[in-house]
Amino acid sequence: MKVTVKANANIALTKYWGKKDAALKTPWNSSTSVTLDGLETTTTVEFDKKYKKDEFVLDGKEFGPETDEFKEVKEQLDIIRGKAKIKDNAKVVSNNNFPTAAGFASSASGLAALTFAASKAAGLNLSTKELSIISRMGSGSASRSLIDGFAIWHRGSAKDGSDSFAEQIAPKEHWPEFRILGCVISKNAKKIKSRAGMAQSVKTSPIFEQWYTNAEKDAQAMVKLIKEKKFEELGKLAQSNCILMHACAMTTQPPVIYWAPGTLEVMHKVLEMQDEGMKCYFTMDGGPQVKIICLASDVPKIKAALKEIEYVHEVIECKPGLGPRVVKENLF
Ligand code: PMV
Repeated sequence: MKVTVKANANIALTKYWGKKDAALKTPWNSSTSVTLDGLETTTTVEFDKKYKKDEFVLDGKEFGPETDEFKEVKEQLDIIRGKAKIKDNAKVVSNNNFPTAAGFASSASGLAALTFAASKAAGLNLSTKELSIISRMGSGSASRSLIDGFAIWHRGSAKDGSDSFAEQIAPKEHWPEFRILGCVISKNAKKIKSRAGMAQSVKTSPIFEQWYTNAEKDAQAMVKLIKEKKFEELGKLAQSNCILMHACAMTTQPPVIYWAPGTLEVMHKVLEMQDEGMKCYFTMDGGPQVKIICLASDVPKIKAALKEIEYVHEVIECKPGLGPRVVKENLF
């Protein structure tokens, strides 16, 4: 059976940076996010005996078995094949409608779409919790892209990782005027992948313990702020949590620095607007792009301010988005 799924990226409002158990891929701390409409991966999967080997095409480019991208996909397919007790090879074709691997969480939407599509194509009917756990094995943040609206990925404490999954804090309808403005600073793929960067941070950052202890408190506080729709407090918390994550990354050996000159320029602009009383806050993941957290009514003013910054190539406006869904149009 051929199945096509669309899944959306998410932006962490409080971040995940560091695995506690490398095999189970469980994190040191819980993290929270909002799923983003508009930043979407579409993936078609088919298992069939006619395929002599697994095949993976992303944005029109075929990735061979020696590439990291192919290995990531194969790992997920193997988990699904194991659960479904099938041996067939698969063809996977995937398209992103936003820059791949440059800090727009393409791994999150990609792995979520792949896991969901592959499980359906293999004849499985898994729960959101099970899908979230399997997605976590491919990319931590993907566990949160299984959720419509606002999500928390629990760090969990079970020895087998079975309680480390994402669940909904509130659906997207809870806060329709919530906005994320994704500022595209660079379309180049990042040099240090999150997976490698955070593994080094766990080993070498002198502030790692401080980071994850704080981040756990932040995640729990964020749940409450989302439920109570306390926008200003939420923005401030997201911003400070992001700075601490990047401080942890920067104090890693060798240093993991995702910020580009344009990143800093937008950060300063956001701080300037805050000083003028505007309620907008920045957050960045593993790349140079800045995501501005704001409310719909302030979007025109913020966009006008961003127009003055040469480094900003594009601004992508996102509302809270849907979880993954099966669609009819196949990619092959
Ligand atoms: O999903 P991963 O394993 O590539 O890690 C993502 C880490 C950050 O995006 C930097 C933070 C987060 O919580 O999404």
